[in-house]
Amino acid sequence: MKTLVVFYSRSGTTKRVALDVAKALNADIDEVIDKKSRKGILGFLRAGYDATRGKTTEIEFEKDPSDYDLVIIGTPVWNGRVTPAIRTYLLRNRERIKRAAFFSTCAGRPGKCLGQMEEILGQEPLLKKVLVRKRLDEGTEELVNELKTLMGSTP
Ligand SMILES: Cc1cc2nc3c(=O)[nH]c(=O)nc-3n(C[C@H](O)[C@H](O)[C@H](O)COP(=O)(O)O)c2cc1C
Repeated sequence: MKTLVVFYSRSGTTKRVALDVAKALNADIDEVIDKKSRKGILGFLRAGYDATRGKTTEIEFEKDPSDYDLVIIGTPVWNGRVTPAIRTYLLRNRERIKRAAFFSTCAGRPGKCLGQMEEILGQEPLLKKVLVRKRLDEGTEELVNELKTLMGSTP
């Protein structure tokens, strides 16, 4: 099964999970870049505001998800919501994603982020997984194992 891991990460946590998952599954990887600065206190405040308001943003990415059987998409949780970068990615690639799996990383309050992703994609993902920062390694291991099981039983 040709697999792509797509992620957005502001401070490296989601990136770490994405890299580990891609390695374990022998998948390609694509980082979504948010062209809007999310650095510093102002960037932080704007990030929460934009996520809460359901804003899109200007993004860059490289791979075409339609080349893959499965696209695993990871995002941090911002104010209980999906990040503008991943919202934009999903909106732009809705027609190009055959099958999806989602994960989020957060400090412990996952909110409605994964539900929003499902709504935006308009398709039920194979998996929705929340990873809490303080149990990141265990969460990553669980995620990999659950994905392997699903991939083994999906035609
Ligand atoms: C603007 C902003 C809002 C956040 N809101 C939440 C939240 O609602 N719930 C939560 O558990 N963590 C929240 N966090 C923490 C991040 O989700 C968490 O640290 C995540 O793992 C960061 O991923 P990253 O390092 O890939 O950017 C927030 C972080 C930021 C920057």
